[in-house]
Amino acid sequence: MKAAEIRSAFLKFFESKGHQIVASSPVVPGDDPTLLFTNAGMNQFKDVFLGFDKRPYTRAATAQKCIRAGGKHNDLENVGYTARHHTFFEMLGNFSFGDYFKEDAIKYAWELLTEVFKLPKEKLLATVYAEDDEAYNIWTQQIGLPPERVIRIGDNKGARYASDNFWMMGDTGPCGPCSEIFYDFGPSVAGGPPGSPDEDGDRYTEVWNNVFMQFNRRVDENGNYVMDLLPKPSVDTGMGLERLTRVLQNVQTNYDIDLFITLMASAQTVLKQAGALEIDPASPSLKVIADHIRACAFTVADGVIPSNEGRGYVLRRIARRAIRHGYKLGARAPFFHKLVDALATEMGSAYPELKQQQARVTEVLKIEEERFFQTIANGMEILDTALASLPAGTPLGGDIAFKLHDTYGFPLDLTADVLRERGLTVDEAGFNAAMKEQRERAREKGKFKLAQGLEYSGTPTTFHGYDKLFIEGAKVTGIYVDGSRVDVARSGDDAVIVLDNTPFYAESGGQVGDAGAMQNGTARFVVEDTQKIQADVFGHHGRVVEGEIKLGDTLNARVDGNRRTATQRHHSVTHIMHKALREVLGEHVQQKGSLVDAEKTRFDFAHNAPMTDEQIRKVEQIVNREILANAATQARVMGIEDAQKTGAMMLFGEKYGDSVRVLDIGSSRELCGGTHVARTGDIGLFKIVAEGGVAAGVRRVEAVAGEVALNLVLERDSQLEQVSGALKVPAAEVGSKLAQVLDGVRALEKELAALKGKLASNQGDALVGQAVEVGGIKVLAATLEGADVPALREAVDKLRDKLGSAAVVLAAVADGKVSLIAGVTADLTGKVKAGELVNFVAQQVGGKGGGRPDMAQAGGTNPAALPAALAAVKDWVAGKL
Ligand code: ALA
Repeated sequence: MKAAEIRSAFLKFFESKGHQIVASSPVVPGDDPTLLFTNAGMNQFKDVFLGFDKRPYTRAATAQKCIRAGGKHNDLENVGYTARHHTFFEMLGNFSFGDYFKEDAIKYAWELLTEVFKLPKEKLLATVYAEDDEAYNIWTQQIGLPPERVIRIGDNKGARYASDNFWMMGDTGPCGPCSEIFYDFGPSVAGGPPGSPDEDGDRYTEVWNNVFMQFNRRVDENGNYVMDLLPKPSVDTGMGLERLTRVLQNVQTNYDIDLFITLMASAQTVLKQAGALEIDPASPSLKVIADHIRACAFTVADGVIPSNEGRGYVLRRIARRAIRHGYKLGARAPFFHKLVDALATEMGSAYPELKQQQARVTEVLKIEEERFFQTIANGMEILDTALASLPAGTPLGGDIAFKLHDTYGFPLDLTADVLRERGLTVDEAGFNAAMKEQRERAREKGKFKLAQGLEYSGTPTTFHGYDKLFIEGAKVTGIYVDGSRVDVARSGDDAVIVLDNTPFYAESGGQVGDAGAMQNGTARFVVEDTQKIQADVFGHHGRVVEGEIKLGDTLNARVDGNRRTATQRHHSVTHIMHKALREVLGEHVQQKGSLVDAEKTRFDFAHNAPMTDEQIRKVEQIVNREILANAATQARVMGIEDAQKTGAMMLFGEKYGDSVRVLDIGSSRELCGGTHVARTGDIGLFKIVAEGGVAAGVRRVEAVAGEVALNLVLERDSQLEQVSGALKVPAAEVGSKLAQVLDGVRALEKELAALKGKLASNQGDALVGQAVEVGGIKVLAATLEGADVPALREAVDKLRDKLGSAAVVLAAVADGKVSLIAGVTADLTGKVKAGELVNFVAQQVGGKGGGRPDMAQAGGTNPAALPAALAAVKDWVAGKL
């Protein structure tokens, strides 16, 4: 079974057991700040386990893209050195949300492994959490595994969560005891059973982890970790597809499975193009490269780009680590990004994002690679020189590692990886100290202007902006320049100013802060943004453009009314839209985030499927009706409990004070501190402009109101006019006319293809004369100008018929790529195989292929080598006869 077949067999099995097959979530968990990358199949179901989120199913199965680098689960350092570690891997998992528990989880796992995948029972072992008698008894009594093959694993560090058999996704979140299933590769592989001193060897490999989710680990008010029981006992399992494939294909390491063999072959090709000479096919560097291209390509496809912090830096570290391994093998020019094509071919049907984003992913990695190639040679030279004079057994100095990091872009783990190859280490403490020193220097230089974290202990700000956009005589109670408190800000200074009274709204609840200006007889300050310094202290960010402003001065403050009006249209319409979304999609729609400014409203909400066009129209219609009804907005301030009684929408996870504002806008009712239109009619017009997914179960709508909406409609109208002008039909007929035109184009394309085929076959006829006699058969190797693959195939077919006993290989070149088809008549396939023939040529033009003994196909990337390769066919065939 190929890896792809194993993936579908797994999903099919669990589908037959009543599980909903759910798509993989992105490797970047959009809605979980506790996680760097998706590290397990259960991540996307975290809220379901916790009881915060409900799904229409209680059983699910997934093949999940996972990254284990840089977070709690980090395998980066092991890649290339063991048979089984990856930075990127696919986790097959089945899940029960309060449905079945230990017994069924174990039975399903056993049935799948031994009956569907037919693994010999005597090769399997299980571990259970030391105190879990229930799981132990299921294995020994119900499954019938001999007790010596069921191993209890305890908590060696006295804390429950320190055990290998107690699984957690991170420091907090759902967790529970687990039972792992191991496969024994037999005594020819080094390593001992789980729990033994040499358990880290590859002989006994964990293939499946069954977690019995029972707890939520969280931080309480005092900052201590506590364990709560989950609402219902649940199941979370995970089986690495690559490991399982290794077991089922009965090969030595994960890198010997079909998927990696292909990727590593492509790696050799691109490395050679980049200057590598002889490559040992067993080189760990090839494994590292093949592993890392998967992590990098999937991470970029899911929206990360290389950078110096957070996820972007993990991506950069993985990419540069791979590039360095290529450099080690002799590559002196970018090669890594070229592997995206091979990966997309290999995995693009299971993960269509790879194909959809192939060009962009390649480009992002190419830029990163070109950048690193500018410094890698010098960096390696510095490292080599330093190592040459390093006394045996001493770690490399932290200062050198830091210089490599700072000047040559060598992440610390890359340097450590080079050292490890030579049995050396690095002084990490020294590296960290050098890093810290540099940060402090930068801070002193004032590079970090901190807007937040300003100290303030004066009068709080009173906000007047619900009903006024202008106030006179506001007193300056705080001034900050470059993050420090000062007494005076002068013309040209960027500053933050605090007032005792203000009409400026400070950003909160998704609504952006106000802009505007404040002035008195001698000074003027332009406000670009307003942000809270403390809950009731507003910082006005901007610049002194005239005179100077001192503590205690009084200013007249005026909000930019157009910007505010446009912003509050978008805010008010968000409330109405929220209600309409619930009406159209269902009560599960919950706000997950929002951003409201003068240009748009962007609203994230819990919902599982893309909205249909009809649903979008419906929401637009409901909202616009509310606008036309022109009801007056009502704001009431009351105690939180009274507010609850009004049935106002409250946002989950939001902290509300004791006294809150209940806003009625049209028929919507929400708690909200924002500023709003006086009547719904002020919103003018509402239009949804985009709808899409942002994370598992979270959709995002972007919409516009007021003038922005009006301009949008006018612009679309004029675009439509242009199209109707070009098509020479009235606007109402544009759709049908365009359909006609496209039909016409498709017909022409068909005709063109047919003509090409004909042309190729005519050319083919002309080639008959070029066949040469070799040992009593006809051999023909030629190029067919302008042919595509179907045309080549047809021509080969015909030529075979015409030539009698023959071996034919035809090539065509387009866009720098070579296509090859080989055909051999049935009487010869015993000696000359079409697959071998086509590969003989393909290898010389930088590619490979395969097929049946009588007909095979291949591609290549080096057209320049084609003539010589074709010329060599005659002798090659002669050698086979
Ligand atoms: N979430 C469990 C794991 O990753 C199944 O091992």
